[in-house]
Amino acid sequence: MPEITSIGVIGGGVMGSGIAQALAVGGARVTVRDLNEALIEKSRSTVVDGRYGLKRGVERGKTTQKDADASLARLSFTTSLGDLKDADLIIEAVPEDLELKKKVFGELDTVAGPETIFATNTSGLAISDINKAVSEERRKRFIGMHWFSPAPVMKLVELVYAPETADEAIAALESLCQRVGKATVRVKDAPGRYGFIANRIYFAAVREAQKVLEEGIATPEDINKAMVFGFNWPVGPLAMVEGATKGWQ
Ligand SMILES: NC(=O)c1ccc[n+]([C@@H]2O[C@H](COP(=O)([O-])OP(=O)(O)OC[C@H]3O[C@@H](n4cnc5c(N)ncnc54)[C@H](O)[C@@H]3O)[C@@H](O)[C@H]2O)c1
Repeated sequence: MPEITSIGVIGGGVMGSGIAQALAVGGARVTVRDLNEALIEKSRSTVVDGRYGLKRGVERGKTTQKDADASLARLSFTTSLGDLKDADLIIEAVPEDLELKKKVFGELDTVAGPETIFATNTSGLAISDINKAVSEERRKRFIGMHWFSPAPVMKLVELVYAPETADEAIAALESLCQRVGKATVRVKDAPGRYGFIANRIYFAAVREAQKVLEEGIATPEDINKAMVFGFNWPVGPLAMVEGATKGWQ
């Protein structure tokens, strides 16, 4: 499969804006589609002025003004689905609702070229349920591409393949992720199991930490401390819940 250089992102919310930023910083041309002008303006301002945005990146010395300007020049925002028709890859990042995702992909299938790869950023819905919305031919180029928040910072992308996903499509996304500085893992689609690899293990650790707390065995501080000093975790399981919901400092 040819190298992916042009990418569409559907939904410019928390994840879509971060994914678009990460890919543009990595050198890809990215078009973000959301539903109205106010939403695309919000998405653009997250990329520029957000907590993990380009401006903060320059202030913190993570990038230069010149590179930030070049990244922004590779990004465009639209309300029109038709503007994504020439993309090599389209990543869906609309809310976690199976019917909504299927509706979006059903529409996209009629707009995008036959070679375009479709990816969903679902946190755990089955890829083989969502891909029912597209043609049998497209299912070969349909894959889960699960990013972590904040996408411009977190290194991992889980690539989730259904039985129909072609190996070339997985390889094309591996190569793209490598180019933009992300690490990938391959995950087999497992309908009925929510959370792929990382979130399943994370949820299990958090559940157990909460049980330890409820049983009165230790304080929240000591539960976190045990994992930080005992297992070299960067933060403890209870602190992770706070970081994942309120953002990392
Ligand atoms: N938030 C996280 O930490 C996180 C992490 C990994 C994966 N995810 C997954 O990413 C997906 C998006 O989550 P989010 O937190 O970014 O949601 P969000 O609500 O912040 O953003 C969703 C965006 O999609 C837009 N949208 C809805 N319908 C649309 C359509 N038909 N066309 C274009 N845009 C449309 C909304 O206007 C909104 O801007 C979900 O599947 C979620 O499970 C979220």
